[in-house]
Amino acid sequence: MNPIYDQLKRPLRDLRISVTDRCNFRCSYCMPAEIFGPDFAFLPSDKILSFEEIERLVKIFVSFGVKKIRITGGEPLMRRDLPVLVRMIRAIEGVEDIAMTTNGSLLKKYAKPLKEAGLDRVSISLDSLEDERFLAMNGNRGKVKTVLAGIEAAASAGLYVKINMVVQKGKNIEDIIPMAHYFKEKQHILRFIEYMDVGNSNGWRLDDVFSKKDIIDEVQKLAPVKPVAPNYEGEVASRFRYEHGDGEVGVISSVTDSFCGNCSRARISAEGKLYTCLFATEGTDLRALLRSDLDDEAVAAKIADVWAHRTDRYSDERTAQTASRRQKTKIEMSHIGG
Ligand code: GTP
Ligand code: 5AD
Ligand code: SF4
Ligand code: SF4
Repeated sequence: MNPIYDQLKRPLRDLRISVTDRCNFRCSYCMPAEIFGPDFAFLPSDKILSFEEIERLVKIFVSFGVKKIRITGGEPLMRRDLPVLVRMIRAIEGVEDIAMTTNGSLLKKYAKPLKEAGLDRVSISLDSLEDERFLAMNGNRGKVKTVLAGIEAAASAGLYVKINMVVQKGKNIEDIIPMAHYFKEKQHILRFIEYMDVGNSNGWRLDDVFSKKDIIDEVQKLAPVKPVAPNYEGEVASRFRYEHGDGEVGVISSVTDSFCGNCSRARISAEGKLYTCLFATEGTDLRALLRSDLDDEAVAAKIADVWAHRTDRYSDERTAQTASRRQKTKIEMSHIGG
């Protein structure tokens, strides 16, 4: 193993791989339907990394000490035969944890084959328990009951489940308490995500952000919670346990309480670009390297060089720099997942 560190002495520990830029939802904060319409040009299949290319990259990243792999999208289950990829990653020595971030709409069909292939965990996105607000947020694509069925299917298959809820003022503040109550009963960890300025399409405004403090104040109306220490160094969610009985919630506060200081995450887009930050404007074309005659050692050296030069701390700098940075084109969330 050959650990590598960036300019801020942060190790590379966590790899997030997008397997498709397509999604069957059109969440307003991620792929608004006005922009991602019927004529939108998604990536053609020859521009997307093959399973074999992803497998080769995972082996290289594991050589740097990466133990956690997360599969994202778009919606990862839009990619055909995904359990085959999970099985290939599971077979790689050194991979300890395989997770997937999904909207849950196709999990009823795929939860069992994914578990059998070796998937450990799923983070399922759900923003409301009421169809009216959920449909308004996801572009009229997915009903609450379909996602709840996906959550049930994942839990019954033996996958460890967490729920992600993006919280946006004027959209779903009234859902914070019902969601916390429902998932406390179901014994799944719910994480509230502050609405972020990812990509270029969602028309983000600071005024629409409901802060971590406001979120916790809402949860306290349901039941008292107290902060607890992270499960591991670099965990993005701050954790809160219910003071009475079991259960916890998390808050991912990239806007009001950022966490770049120990960010050890690298991201690969569906087309094989390496991004060292969720808010990056440019990536490194790994697909070109994989499709050249370079051997694994040479590809590894290129990745190590990119990480060694990394200085990203976008969320820490956001307040000061949002105005100037926003003139640059950022990578879309649907290209690199969460
Ligand atoms: P665990 O391994 O379960 O701790 O997963 P995770 O919280 O790292 O992964 P998940 O995909 O569930 O992350 C939830 C959300 O947090 C993502 O969808 C993003 O919105 C946000 N997020 C994750 N990583 C980062 C990051 O590095 N920077 C910022 N700003 N947000 C992040
Ligand atoms: N702000 C916060 N979270 C977002 N996600 C997508 N776009 C945004 C945004 N603008 C989250 C989704 C999902 C994951 C893929 O990323 O809710 O949990
Ligand atoms: Fe699709 Fe997830 Fe983006 Fe919603 S947040 S459009 S479900 S990729
Ligand atoms: Fe990491 Fe960039 Fe997120 Fe900061 S903003 S935590 S550097 S991905």
